[in-house]
Amino acid sequence: MLDLQDMRTDYMKGTLDECNVPANPYLLFEQWFQEAIDSQIKDPNAMLLATAGQNGQPNLRAVLLKIFDERGFVFFTNYNSVKAEEIAQNPKVAVEFLWLELERQVRILGRCEKITAKESLSYFMKRSRDSQIGAWVSDQSSVITSRKALQMQIEKMKQKFAKGHVPLPDFWGGYRVIPEQIEFWQGRPSRLHDRILYTKEAEGWKIERLAP
Ligand SMILES: Cc1cc2nc3c(=O)[nH]c(=O)nc-3n(C[C@H](O)[C@H](O)[C@H](O)COP(=O)(O)O)c2cc1C
Repeated sequence: MLDLQDMRTDYMKGTLDECNVPANPYLLFEQWFQEAIDSQIKDPNAMLLATAGQNGQPNLRAVLLKIFDERGFVFFTNYNSVKAEEIAQNPKVAVEFLWLELERQVRILGRCEKITAKESLSYFMKRSRDSQIGAWVSDQSSVITSRKALQMQIEKMKQKFAKGHVPLPDFWGGYRVIPEQIEFWQGRPSRLHDRILYTKEAEGWKIERLAP
């Protein structure tokens, strides 16, 4: 077996100080996101999304952040998938961006809301035709017999939509994660990391430092 006990990195790339972070966490997120892009991290918009349905079993998967603004963080998916079912049962979710190259993580707690079909359409139209067809083909999270069956389904849809544009499926679209809390975590030497927690208040955000 591999011995992992001596694997450790001392984090030294940055610092985070509650005295000079912006009052608005979206500004800090935007700055960190830009730095993740500039550092050429692969898929910096990949985020882990945790859901828990009625039975309380946490479930975790990666999705891609496609829109963010002061209303929240939007990803797109199949509205019949397991995650969608779990969100319908319990809209409370957790999100994690892990940017190890920058020794950073951003943790978000909030609730999910479907965005409007109009907003979903606007993004759907920017996707490649193959991805649009893919949205029609995949009955996400259902059991399928083989890759071949999927391939046949693709061919069928390609024929169906051979002419004109591919319409937005009514079972596909975006969810907005509306945050209640956003934590920015910056690794520091000797495990004495910087953790700044923003909590949504009636007006604005409360800012606190958490023990590492
Ligand atoms: C980097 C990465 C990005 C992904 N982005 C998405 C996405 O934006 N939307 C999506 O539905 N699935 C995405 N997936 C696939 C999901 O992780 C997952 O397999 C799928 O959504 C089914 O999840 P569910 O059964 O929990 O609903 C992505 C996977 C990876 C590894």
